[in-house]
Amino acid sequence: MKIKEQVLSAIESVDDLASIENLRVEYLGKKGKLTSILRGMGSLSADERPRIGKLANEVREAIETALSEKKKYFEEKATELKLSSQFIDITLPGKKLASGHEHPLYLVIDEMLDIFGQLGFSVVEGPEIEWVKNNFDNLNVPLEHSSRDYSDTFYFTDDILLRTQTSPVQVRAMTGNQPPIKIVSPGKVYRKDEIDATHSPMFHQLEGLIIDEGITMADLKGTLDYVAKLMYGEDTQTRFRPHQFYFTEPSAEMDASCFACHGKGCRICKGTGWIEILGCGMVHPHVLEICGIDPEKYTGFAFGMGLDRMAMLKYDINDLRLLFGNDTEFLEQF
Ligand code: DAH
Repeated sequence: MKIKEQVLSAIESVDDLASIENLRVEYLGKKGKLTSILRGMGSLSADERPRIGKLANEVREAIETALSEKKKYFEEKATELKLSSQFIDITLPGKKLASGHEHPLYLVIDEMLDIFGQLGFSVVEGPEIEWVKNNFDNLNVPLEHSSRDYSDTFYFTDDILLRTQTSPVQVRAMTGNQPPIKIVSPGKVYRKDEIDATHSPMFHQLEGLIIDEGITMADLKGTLDYVAKLMYGEDTQTRFRPHQFYFTEPSAEMDASCFACHGKGCRICKGTGWIEILGCGMVHPHVLEICGIDPEKYTGFAFGMGLDRMAMLKYDINDLRLLFGNDTEFLEQF
């Protein structure tokens, strides 16, 4: 049939999707050329009808196939074009998202917990709102001591205060627990200090406590000397100066040779070659007793250090207020 060749060559030369639809309507639509031929079959003779009918159906199928193939071809081409216009170079570096990072003080806290973790200490936390008993009485602090004054300490009531030190965590760790005890406890403490470059009414301490049978001052010195070497390097020296704390006897303060000048004397150690690191001592037998631990059987040592000072030394920060200022431009440096 001539019509078949006509359509097929028309389909062949079509160059867009819309023209394909036009051709379909032109030949196969309700008023289409092929449709009207098929419709005219009624006037054919009975022996012509099946032959022509078969032929017409074949032609319709051929046209439908050609149309759908061509349509598919255009659709694929359109998809290809779209994809190539949306090409993404996955080898390009991504856009960097601005993200925060740990506060320098917490970098120091993490480092300290890491060091004590290696030495087998567990980390415990104590409340910042504390009983006066745990903060003072059970730590052997005499009633007349000036740190108990309302002018020095934030009281809620006569019995409850904002802890002035992390040492009450010692009382909590010992009361109701029997040795061996080996804990460190970092946290915030509060004192009524005016804010200046080295003082703040809120600051941070790290408390440590070991209680077991046969613990001596040699264990204290050996452990804390080792800690100083882990903090500042193998060649770090330590020295212990006698001091007085109510909850330890004997008591000492430990200095480490300056990490910046290695003992020669510099701006960081104020020319002395030494940096004060912590207070420490053998836990007072009376404190053990108050907490329900037999001082005849057990001994132990405790220590406490100021973490803000550690961070200021480590990162050469000369004003404590910078640590608490939430100034991102400052904090981004660390
Ligand atoms: N609590 C003491 C302070 O705030 C620091 C301290 C000293 C803690 C000696 C201790 C210690 O556990 O044994 O100054």
